[in-house]
Amino acid sequence: MAEHRGTDTATLTGVGVGPGDPALVTVGAVAVLRAADRVVAPTTELGRPGRAESIVTAAVPGLAVDRLPFDMSSDPTDGEAARVASHRAAAARLLPWLEGGQHVAFVTLGDPNLYSTFPSLVRALGELGWHGKVETVPGITAFQALAATAGTVLLDGTESLALVTALDGVDQVAEALADPDRAVVIYKGGRHIGEVAQLLAASGRLEGAVFGERLGLDDQRVGPVSAVGDGPASYLVTVVVPPRGRDAGR
Ligand SMILES: C[S@@+](CC[C@H](N)C(=O)[O-])C[C@H]1O[C@@H](n2cnc3c(N)ncnc32)[C@H](O)[C@@H]1O
Repeated sequence: MAEHRGTDTATLTGVGVGPGDPALVTVGAVAVLRAADRVVAPTTELGRPGRAESIVTAAVPGLAVDRLPFDMSSDPTDGEAARVASHRAAAARLLPWLEGGQHVAFVTLGDPNLYSTFPSLVRALGELGWHGKVETVPGITAFQALAATAGTVLLDGTESLALVTALDGVDQVAEALADPDRAVVIYKGGRHIGEVAQLLAASGRLEGAVFGERLGLDDQRVGPVSAVGDGPASYLVTVVVPPRGRDAGR
C-alpha cells in the first residue's frame, strides 16, 4: 500500500460542537471552523444534515459543510462491519484533500475525545497510509450540559466519577453503582432506560438522578429518572447520578 506522508500544511482537526445548543459551540471551535479549508460533518443520509452540521451552521451562518455518510447502526451482528466500512469510505473521501495540503475540520457532537467517531476516522486514515497532523478542539459534553440544565453538582471535594455506557445492557452501570461515593454518568442507555431506572431504585440512588434526552434540540426532555417510565428513550439520552447521601443540587 502506498505511504502518504502528509504535507506540512495538511491537518485534520476534530472539532467538538457540544450536544445540541449552538450557544454551546466554543469561541475556539468557531475560529477553527472559519479558518479551515474545508469543514466536514457526519450524516446518516446524504440528503439531510446530521446533528453536528445543524449545530455548526446555526452557530456560524453561511458556513459551507461537506457531508460524509456514516453508518451509525448499533446492530450487534453486522452493525460493526457496516460502521468500519463507512469509516474507511469516509477516510478515502478525506484523503485527497489532506494529500493536497488542506486543513480539514471534522465536526462531532460533544467532545471529540469522548465516545466520538473521530478516533475511528483517524485510524481509518492511518490504514490508508495517511499519518499527518491531527488535532482536536474540546467540546462541551452532553453530561456537562445536563448537569447545568438540571442544576446538579456532579462532583464535590474528593468525590470521583464513573462514565459508563448501557448500549448492550446495564452491567457496567451496576458495577459503577457499587461505590456509593461515586457519581455515575450513563451514556448510550436509551434502549435500557427502564432497567437503568429500576437499578437506581434498587441501589437507593434514584434521589437526585436526572436524565436528559435530545439536549439542546427543540424536543429536549430533562427530568428526574424516577419519571422516565419503562419506555425506551432515544439514543440521545444521558443520565447523571450524583453520589449518595449528599444534597446534589445547588
Ligand atoms: C457517541 S456518544 C457521543 C458523546 C459525545 N462525544 C460527548 O462528548 O458527549 C453518544 C451518546 O452521547 C450522549 N449524548 C450526546 N448528545 C446528546 C444530547 N444532545 N442529549 C442527550 N445525550 C446526548 C448520549 O448518551 C448518546 O448515547
